[in-house]
Formats: sequence, C-alpha cells, structure tokens
Amino acid sequence: MTQGKTARPRLGGDEDFDGLTRAEAALPAHWYYDAETYRAELERIFFRDWLYVCHASALGENRSYRRFDIGGQSLLLLRDNDGILRAFHNTCRHRGSELCAEREGRFSGKLIVCPYHQWSFALDGRLVATTSHAEAGDFDKAEYPLLEVGVREFRGGIFVSLDEDPPDFEDGFIRGSDRVENWPMADLVVGHRWRETMACNWKVFWENFNECLHCPNIHPELCDLVPIYGRRISYYRDEPGWSAHVADAQPKYRGGLREGAVTWSTSGQASGPVFPDLTDEEVARGQSYFVSLPSVFIAGHVDYMRTVRVLPLGPEETGLEVEWLFPRETLQRADFDLEDITEFARLVMRQDAQASEMNQRGLRARAFERGVLMPEEHHVKAFQDWVRRRLQADVAESR
Ligand code: FES
Ligand SMILES: [Fe+2]
Repeated sequence: MTQGKTARPRLGGDEDFDGLTRAEAALPAHWYYDAETYRAELERIFFRDWLYVCHASALGENRSYRRFDIGGQSLLLLRDNDGILRAFHNTCRHRGSELCAEREGRFSGKLIVCPYHQWSFALDGRLVATTSHAEAGDFDKAEYPLLEVGVREFRGGIFVSLDEDPPDFEDGFIRGSDRVENWPMADLVVGHRWRETMACNWKVFWENFNECLHCPNIHPELCDLVPIYGRRISYYRDEPGWSAHVADAQPKYRGGLREGAVTWSTSGQASGPVFPDLTDEEVARGQSYFVSLPSVFIAGHVDYMRTVRVLPLGPEETGLEVEWLFPRETLQRADFDLEDITEFARLVMRQDAQASEMNQRGLRARAFERGVLMPEEHHVKAFQDWVRRRLQADVAESR
C-alpha cells in the first residue's frame, strides 16, 4: 500500500470536461455476489440482448458447429448443408438430453444424433427419426424440432439472442461506436484464441474496462505504449485542465501510441499492412474500441483486431474468450510473429483479470455498502446507469 499526501483540487461543477463533478454512488456491493441479482441480470440483460458468439470464420464450412454456454444455457451453433447459419438450444426434444458435448467440431453426416436414445435431427432442426419399435398414433415428428434461437451474422461477427422477441439488432450493436465499418472484419480469420476464467462478477470486469484510474500501477507496460493511460485517463477531455495542453501533440496529452509504435504488440510494430479504409486519425491513434454490451468489446488496430467476449458463469465467476483476427495473408507471411502481437494483450488482460479478482474479494465486507465514483470514472457511471435501467425495479438497491 502507498499513501498519497497531495491535496486534490475541488471541482465546482461547471468545469468544461468529460469527468464526473459529483461523488456518484456506485452500485450496491451485494449486486456483485447475490444469486438473486445475478438471476435478474441473466433474465433482463443476457437472455434478451444480442450476444456476440464468435467470428464467422470459426463456422466457415457447412456442417461445422460450435457450442456456446452462457448463464447456464447451452446453445448449438452450426452451418447447415446449405451454408445457412442456425442456432438451437443444445437440448434433445425427446427427454431433454444435451445433444452435443464438444466445444466445436464438424458433423460427419447430415444428421445430429442425440447421444442418449439416438433420435436424429436434420441440421435445419427437423426431427428425422426416432429409435422406437413403433410410434404412438398421435405422435407427430413435426411437433418436435430442435428449439431454435435467433442468430445474426453482421460484419463477420455471429450474434445470438435467447429472447423470443429480440431487440432491434442495429440498435444494440456496438453502442456509441459506428466506425467499425472501416475495419475489414468480415474478411479476417482467427489467428489465435485465449480463454481465461476469472473469480469475479461480470460487472467488475466491465467496470475495470471502463476506467484507467488503475492503469499506472496495474499496467506499467501498457502505459509505456499508451502514454495518456499513465496519467490515469483515457481521453484528453477526462481531466479538468485539458485546455492548458490542447496544443500539445505529445501522446501523453493527445492520446494514441508512443512515438514509433503503430499497434498493440510487444515491439510496437505491425504484423502486416495497414487496413486500407481506416481514416488518418484511426491510423494515428493506433487503437479503437467498439463495445456491444453486455457481451463483447472489439479492439481495432491498424493491422489486426481482437474480440473479447465476456461470459457470466456464476455470480462470482466470469469467462473471457478472446480471438485475434488477421488478414489471411498476414498469417502466411514468412516474418509473421504471432507472439509479438498476442503476448502484449494477454499480459494486459491477465493484469486486468487479477485486478478484477482483487476487487471482487474486497466487495464482500459486511460493512461495505457500496463504492463511490471519482471524476475519471464517468464511463463506469454510464455502465452502472445502463445496468440500473435494465434491471429497473427488479432488484432493490438496498436491503
Ligand atoms: S433424450 Fe435424446 S433421444 Fe432420448
Ligand atoms: Fe486495465
């Protein structure tokens, strides 16, 4: 532990900057471990919104499939014999057995066969055959197709919604960031995958993502690459005195990567050519973020992209599934250095995972009712307000 002795300036409330000017109450601490709150969040958020599952290239071939587990629900995504993307609950219509135990693969034939009593289903979900000696007179196979789930493919991303009446897709995708179209996401392929399970509530991870107050002590290497993070902010307008530095082009004031670095990698060097449709500003910045709450953020760099899926596994357990997307030609380059690209983000994500777990461990103190948000944490406030709106009156803020 270290102790700061500096008295901080007081905000009057009329400052022209993006930060918070009031001491805002954070969410109640028990929302981060209560089974009841977790259940409400699944129902009102994760089982309603469109959720990012994977890049379309992971289901590139007909008959390829992938299992997707979230909040105790298991889904089966596949491309049928005609190349149509389909999603079903991973549940047999006979007596409800799990259909598919593997995480991903490719069906060898044209049928999905239940491992229990071997009912077979076509890849479009129709029940094709049972294994009984005879079927009851009133048994109609047409009444027992696999249970379908909404699925969308958008800019190379595959999304599902468990809601029977899903929200408008365009509204929900990548809130507040419309520039993802400058990246050729649909043409990229997965070059690397990384999975991690964190002992924290899913909101703790998102809150940590939404602030850089922790950056200098938790991420020294990242602050070297992105100097403004070393000042505990992520955007120049996050500090009240920003106008004093407005003409200063140094990255520690203007943002962007350190001099000489062009992308997120250990060396700072790119893995291949710069994507052709990026604006000059996007190239100069070296990093852009697209967020689709609650399931994914996507980092767009000049030469590759990285998708980070956030999966609630329990009130105090959250999975991360990360994919690095590259142009196929980049992966085939003789000088391609996968480690140089991937190790940097893995390091930062491991640091964030440890910080999130540390945060979670402290939240259970019986005397701790809730935290308080500081000026730099305005994106955390926006996230928490979004959670409050989605839960509405379902979960009390006090008890
Ligand atoms: S539960 Fe699938 S065939 Fe019986
Ligand atoms: Fe972080």
